[in-house]
Amino acid sequence: MVQTLPFDPNFDDCAWTDAWLYVPVMQLVPGVYPAFTVHSWRISEADLCGQVIRLNQPLDVRGLVLRDGRLWMSDVPQERLMMFNNAARSRGRVLVGGLGIGLYPQYALPLAEHMTIVERDADLIPVVEPVVRAAAAHYQVPLEIITSDITETLEATDGGDYDTIFLDTWETLDPVNLPAINALRDRAISRLRPDGTVLLWGYRWMLRLFQQACEQLLALSPIERRNMLDAARRERPAVGTLLGPVAAYLDSHDDPNHDEAVAWYMNYILRARLEDTPR
Ligand SMILES: C[S@@+](CC[C@H](N)C(=O)[O-])C[C@H]1O[C@@H](n2cnc3c(N)ncnc32)[C@H](O)[C@@H]1O
Repeated sequence: MVQTLPFDPNFDDCAWTDAWLYVPVMQLVPGVYPAFTVHSWRISEADLCGQVIRLNQPLDVRGLVLRDGRLWMSDVPQERLMMFNNAARSRGRVLVGGLGIGLYPQYALPLAEHMTIVERDADLIPVVEPVVRAAAAHYQVPLEIITSDITETLEATDGGDYDTIFLDTWETLDPVNLPAINALRDRAISRLRPDGTVLLWGYRWMLRLFQQACEQLLALSPIERRNMLDAARRERPAVGTLLGPVAAYLDSHDDPNHDEAVAWYMNYILRARLEDTPR
């Protein structure tokens, strides 16, 4: 019997497909809500994971803007592509960390038997829930939406186990998040049914950025490496903390072998764990 991996770090949710273009999504109703405003606009060009594409037809998009003017989330093509790719790997009993604007649930519901969504922000739920409920009713999938922190749900000993756990609760695709995301990943793996899968938004993207930073370190002399790390520690201590062990590994080898260094830093980043909330 072939066993599937509970988590595949090589799965790239940015991988190009145009399939998402043919799946209609229900969108949020524009307007002013107590904690944010939902804006609507049209785009004819989009940045998809670093690649700019022109759309055949203008696309109506929604963005959720906070009181301080920050765009919190949106359903622009990159979000749709990434949610679609994660949904395409989903099945069975599904647990979702982060309701967001309800894109992933809409793409994943046709493949789900049951879906539980855990959302921390109580203000968001009344705005997004109607859209996700309508999709669940359409596909006749039982749906639960719980106001809570996903970490608590994953730590609870009661409650069902899952075939798919999709987590998307961090705000940016910054590799400094990886150790905290890994801790969440491992908790999620322990809640899977046999052959279940954990999916993590943008994980491959963050790994790519981490690899690029390591390749930069590898190309430097020990003195240049130390200077770069000192500058990183001053400007963004989290970057220094993340890359410190990589620099220490390279410093301990006179003439580091490239393949061995790659194997070392990949093993390091896939195992690094920090019991902090990702942000
Ligand atoms: C980027 S959005 C998710 C987008 C969503 N995947 C979609 O398809 O629209 C992140 C969501 O996670 C929620 N969130 C952040 N931290 C959380 C936590 N610890 N537990 C539960 N939800 C959380 C945020 O309030 C937000 O709704």
